[in-house]
Amino acid sequence: MVAEGAPVVLDRPLAGSVAVVTGAARAIGQEIAITLAARGATVVSIDLAASTDTVSSVKALGGEAIGLTADVADEGSVQKAFNEVGSHFERIDVLVNNAGLFAGLERRPFWDIDAAEWDRVTTVNIRSVWLCARAASTSMRAAGKGRVVNLSSNTVTFGMPNLLHYVASKAAVIGMTRSMAHELGPYGVNVNAVAPGLVTTEITKEWVSDEYLRQVAEGQCINSPILPSDIARTVAFLCGPDARMITGQTILVNGGATMGPA
Ligand SMILES: NC(=O)c1ccc[n+]([C@@H]2O[C@H](COP(=O)([O-])OP(=O)(O)OC[C@H]3O[C@@H](n4cnc5c(N)ncnc54)[C@H](O)[C@@H]3O)[C@@H](O)[C@H]2O)c1
Repeated sequence: MVAEGAPVVLDRPLAGSVAVVTGAARAIGQEIAITLAARGATVVSIDLAASTDTVSSVKALGGEAIGLTADVADEGSVQKAFNEVGSHFERIDVLVNNAGLFAGLERRPFWDIDAAEWDRVTTVNIRSVWLCARAASTSMRAAGKGRVVNLSSNTVTFGMPNLLHYVASKAAVIGMTRSMAHELGPYGVNVNAVAPGLVTTEITKEWVSDEYLRQVAEGQCINSPILPSDIARTVAFLCGPDARMITGQTILVNGGATMGPA
């Protein structure tokens, strides 16, 4: 038994836990799933797309993973997916709300965004967080423990132009994280957000030029590109024992990009 407050050093701090990661078929979500599995969690990827690569990468590490296909913005689809999780596992210990629409979105002034696009982005990026947290909270509240990590974005801090629906959705995620932390704290559940800067993924590399990625890195205090592993390791920390007393927080993982001029 480790005394409360004592340093905790474990190779596989998430051993024995079940982690649901949304949007884990590729990019950041895939890296989160692999990182949590490497720390001992059994991982469930819930994605619109098949999670074949993620599941085989986890298995190659000697870990356990399953992939479920679902639309996390749709109430019925989320319910069905979490029922299936419940049929495989007794408990959900970790939920990472990662699925979201970002790279690939048309950048345009807010007066040129149509209502259908506004609804699509805000529904996927906001409603999914509520639906999945609601579904996972049943198990976490019953167990009296759990971790929820929501993916926000550092665009909220500086108000990135020409992506108003996206920025609004990621600001909502920060507020939701705080409210959920209040509501779930009494049940022993920590809720935090991670707000990445621009991450180099296979998808962002198609969306923006190498020159743009280089300029963004130059504007950071730490001038190297932000990688999916930087985000995944922060998420893993928040899911582990060392983050026991951290809740309601948003951690910016952006190399200091939004610190302002020196
Ligand atoms: N990439 C970045 O630079 C960056 C920066 C800040 C924040 N983020 C956030 O991190 C998260 C992951 O970003 P990414 O770049 O890896 O995204 P991505 O677009 O590469 O991958 C997103 C995954 O989510 C899945 N998905 C999308 N809509 C879904 C739905 N309705 N139901 C189920 N699955 C769905 C996709 O199929 C895909 O596998 C997002 O929430 C994003 O907003 C990304």
